Amino acid sequence: MSETVTINGREHVVDVEDEMPLLWFLRDRLELIGTKYGCGMGLCGSCTVHIDGKAMRSCLTPVSAAYGKSVTTIEGLSPDGSHPLQIAWLNNNVPQCGYCQSGQIMAAADFLASNPAPSAEEIDAAMHGNICRCGTYKRIRKAIADAAEQMRGA
Ligand code: FES
Repeated sequence: MSETVTINGREHVVDVEDEMPLLWFLRDRLELIGTKYGCGMGLCGSCTVHIDGKAMRSCLTPVSAAYGKSVTTIEGLSPDGSHPLQIAWLNNNVPQCGYCQSGQIMAAADFLASNPAPSAEEIDAAMHGNICRCGTYKRIRKAIADAAEQMRGA
């Protein structure tokens, strides 16, 4: 029996070994290259995706862990790039080199789902595992606060 994973709303038959990191399956098999490889050791957060709505490190997650589940990548966060976090990211000119940003946004989306009105300290605590080599942390914090405000008003 073939195993399947739903990715960004579309079901995919998994034709790779169970142990393949989900990140490889997304990038190399499905060409969903918005999710980035940073450290490969669960330390940087650049590979963050959602599995059944929870932020996970796809570099450490075997594709088999997503069998029968729903995976969302940055490409699937919104149909047209209009998620409040994506808008806030643009409005605050958050990215510098951009490499970590999809992981940052996916981590932030999970965080705001459980804490819709976070303080600056709570944002920093929630996001501390997502590393930005350009040091865009102040803008990330502002964008998350702006998105939270926008989402509360919506
Ligand atoms: Fe997965 Fe760094 S690449 S945490």
